[in-house]
Amino acid sequence: MRADVFTLFPQAFDWYLSQVHVRNACERGHEFHLTNYRDHTPLSHLQVDDTPYGGGAGMVLRIDVVCAALEAVFQGDAAHVRDQRRVLELTPKGRQLDDAFAEELAGGDLVLLCGRYEGIDERVTHLVTDRVSIGPYVLSGGEVAAMALLDAVTRKLPGVISNPESVLSESHSAVLEGGAEYPHYTRPAEFRGWGVPDVLLSGNHGEIDRWRALQVRKG
Ligand code: ADE
Repeated sequence: MRADVFTLFPQAFDWYLSQVHVRNACERGHEFHLTNYRDHTPLSHLQVDDTPYGGGAGMVLRIDVVCAALEAVFQGDAAHVRDQRRVLELTPKGRQLDDAFAEELAGGDLVLLCGRYEGIDERVTHLVTDRVSIGPYVLSGGEVAAMALLDAVTRKLPGVISNPESVLSESHSAVLEGGAEYPHYTRPAEFRGWGVPDVLLSGNHGEIDRWRALQVRKG
């Protein structure tokens, strides 16, 4: 997977990109690239946004700036970038990210367009394959949403998480039929009077599997 993130705040990704599973992914040949729209603006004074036509609050990220950044990275018409890869706009108006959507995105090359302020000029629809929301609330920009999406997708790449079983049986995965994962406990077995279910200490793996399946069904 090659992921290209376009943002006005590339430094917001420093922590995320230093995480061990991202480093694992890079060691396996996956690539993460950050592009600052501002570095490619064709406008003077490093301008990237403008006031909305029709009036109203806030600023809108300009479509000519988004196109210039895409064209600088992909060396071709911005409208054709989506012929080769999924181009995703992070926006509260998008299709909500869930496990199945993350699975669908894993493995292919991705372009993530982060908006700020009032978002990106609506003509971004000529550039994207998908508009993606991480939930029914409005964030100050697409960066946090882009990191959530990258994290959900990167975990699904083979070899990125050292124990592949843990990815398969995670909450909301198909193995659990979309349900929540069973609860986990670790030492100490008794703490401040709070115990651990006896079955988990029994060593009987058949019973443990049945108990866990029951917890998943209970939700
Ligand atoms: N940008 C602002 N809010 C967002 C959300 N909920 N999901 C994705 N991108 C966003």
